Amino acid sequence: MQAITIQNLSKTYETGKEAVKNLSLSLEAGEVFGFLGPNGAGKTTTVKLLTGILTPTSGTCRVFDLDPQTEANRVHAVSGIVTEHAQMYDHLTAMENLMFYASTFGINRSEAKKRSETLLAEFELTDAKDQKLASFSTGMRQRLSLARALIHRPSILFLDEPTSGLDPENAQRVHQMIRKLASEEHIAVFLCTHQLRYAQEVCTRYGLMDEGTLLVTGTLEELRTSTFSGQTLSIRADRLPAGLPFVSCGDSFYTTSIRSEQEIPDLIRTLVAQGVNLYEVSVKKPSLEDIYFALTAKQTEGF
Ligand SMILES: Nc1ncnc2c1ncn2[C@@H]1O[C@H](COP(=O)(O)OP(=O)(O)O)[C@@H](O)[C@H]1O
Ligand SMILES: [Mg+2]
Repeated sequence: MQAITIQNLSKTYETGKEAVKNLSLSLEAGEVFGFLGPNGAGKTTTVKLLTGILTPTSGTCRVFDLDPQTEANRVHAVSGIVTEHAQMYDHLTAMENLMFYASTFGINRSEAKKRSETLLAEFELTDAKDQKLASFSTGMRQRLSLARALIHRPSILFLDEPTSGLDPENAQRVHQMIRKLASEEHIAVFLCTHQLRYAQEVCTRYGLMDEGTLLVTGTLEELRTSTFSGQTLSIRADRLPAGLPFVSCGDSFYTTSIRSEQEIPDLIRTLVAQGVNLYEVSVKKPSLEDIYFALTAKQTEGF
C-alpha cells in the first residue's frame, strides 16, 4: 500500500492565493521524501491537506488509503506530525509531555512510560526527562517533538521544517535520527524543508516545489540527469593543454564538460601524453541547489 497518494490536488485560499496547484505524487513506506522549495512554495499547505487540517479546493489525497477529509482521526492514528511550532507544554517536564500525548492516543500508563523512556534515550534526552520544557534549548525541543510524534508508533511522519532555528550541528543530529528511523523502523517520512543542502544528506527521493507547482520528482541521480545533460570535469595542471576543450578557471584549474565519466580516462591519457603535470582531477556533480536554481533560474536569495 502507498503511504501517500496525491492526485491533482489544488488549494486556493479565500484570499485568492493558489498555494498548491494540481499536485500529483505518491510515496512508498520506508521512503524519506524531501518536499523542497523556498518559503511560500506550498509545502505547509500540502501537509495541512494531507493531515485534514485544510480542505482541498479540488483533487484528492490519501494517507494509507484513508481520506484526511472524512477520516482525520484515523489519519492521525497512523501519522506523527512535527511542525515548526512544536505543540507541547512548557510547564510540564519532558516525561510528562510524552505521557500526556500517549494518553491522548489511549495508550495505558505503564506502556506509555516504557515507550517514553525508550524514546527519551533514543533522542538523547534521558538526563533532561524531569526538566520542564521551559528550560529546553531549541535543539532539545525539536528532539522531544520528534519523540512525541513517535509515541503512538505511526507509520508515516510528517516533518515540516524540523530543523528550522537549529545550528548546523543540531540540524545534523536531527537528520541522522530521521534517517535511522526510516531505515530501522520502515517509517515513511514526508520531510518539508527549504534547507536543500541538509535534505540532500537525508532523503531517498525528492520533489521540488515552486510557487505551488511541483517541478520534478526523482532520486538525486535522476534529477541530475534530467536537469543537466553533462557533468563538469575539473583538473589542476601546470599548463593549459593544447587542442583540448578546457577552459581556464584561474589558480591552475581548468574545466571541461563531459557527457559521462567514461570520457575521463581518454582525456587523462591525452593530457599525460602531452607532458602535462596533473595535480588534481575531479568531477563536479550538481547539488540539489544547483538543480533547483537551474530549473527555476532563481538566485540563492530566494531561500
Ligand atoms: N491561511 C492562509 N491564507 C492565505 N494565504 C495563505 C495562508 N496560508 C498560507 N498562505 C499562502 O500560501 C502560499 C504557500 O504557503 P505555505 O504552504 O505556508 O508555503 P511553505 O510552507 O512552502 O512556505 C504562500 O504564498 C502563503 O503566503
Ligand atoms: Mg512552511
